[in-house]
Amino acid sequence: MRKKVSIVGSGNVGATAAHWIASKELADVILVDIVEGVPQGKGLDLLEAMPIEKRDSFVIGTNNYADTANSDIVVITAGIPRKPGMSRDDLLNTNHKIMSDVVSKVVQHSPNCILIVVSNPLDAMAQAAYKLSGFPRERVIGMAGVLDSARFRAFIAEELKVSVENVTAFVLGGHGDTMVPLPRYSTVAGIPITELMDSATLARLVQRTRDGGAEIVKYLKTGSAYYAPSAAATEMVEAILKDKKKILPCAAYLDGEYGIKGLYVGVPVKLGSKGIEQIVEIKLTPEEKAALDKSAAAVKELIGVIGV
Ligand code: NAI
Ligand code: 2OP
Repeated sequence: MRKKVSIVGSGNVGATAAHWIASKELADVILVDIVEGVPQGKGLDLLEAMPIEKRDSFVIGTNNYADTANSDIVVITAGIPRKPGMSRDDLLNTNHKIMSDVVSKVVQHSPNCILIVVSNPLDAMAQAAYKLSGFPRERVIGMAGVLDSARFRAFIAEELKVSVENVTAFVLGGHGDTMVPLPRYSTVAGIPITELMDSATLARLVQRTRDGGAEIVKYLKTGSAYYAPSAAATEMVEAILKDKKKILPCAAYLDGEYGIKGLYVGVPVKLGSKGIEQIVEIKLTPEEKAALDKSAAAVKELIGVIGV
């Protein structure tokens, strides 16, 4: 039977994720939005592209959650994006209200789905969705680490003039200024990047990764990045639908792993048909652990504000 993926929020990230998912023929796609007409128009436009793409993905747009019934995965991108001068944290209260509205409706129609949260501030919104849904932690996953790591990988490949396919990288922690790129676990064809570039170059790429979202907001002015974010969410969707057991950095609810309890933080996880099938604990140096703890503290402060 065909898989069904619903995407709530048919703006830049949501519609582009629908594009990637449909054009990879991963599933039928239901686009949802609070604005009337927009999901319907984008959904129909995508459906009409399928004969050209030679893909039998069915795509529709709707304002009615009944159409999302029995989705395998629901990707939540509903919310406001940041504008120049704003941090992701400035979106907290508005997007928390939107999350409360969305999650209850999603859960009512798809009680067994896996939720992938994209809305910012990411870790706090994932925590809110986890609490609001009542789902087990395996089925509520935040998208950030795949994006942040992809940015790091792109910058490494550009700097060393190598194929992006040769580059692996890990960025852990919260999706914010305190994120933790891990050069020790980042490689080019298996060679640690610490052996391929000097520390000043590495520090520059790490900082560019931390500022990656803001760099794009500065160019776009009216919103934030969406091609790489939606590609990142699609990689997670594919890992789950194809039961790939793929290890990816995702925001997961930690229950003592990495010495952190009761909090969503970005860590390596194994994604398969059940959602998060394992939280992978890698050894961190005292400096890396301190950076992860600092990042977790920043997430904790935010969730304190919205009380989730
Ligand atoms: P956008 O403004 O293009 O789209 C957001 C959509 O959500 C709009 O179409 C809006 O009508 C809809 N929406 C608002 N309230 C809703 C509700 N109650 N129910 C259903 N739909 C609703 O924004 P964009 O660029 O697509 O970003 C979406 C969110 O994703 C933002 O919060 C942004 O900060 C976040 N984001 C997170 C990333 C990550 O790495 N986790 C990366 C990129 C964006
Ligand atoms: C980004 O990192 C806005 O969180 C989004 O591009």
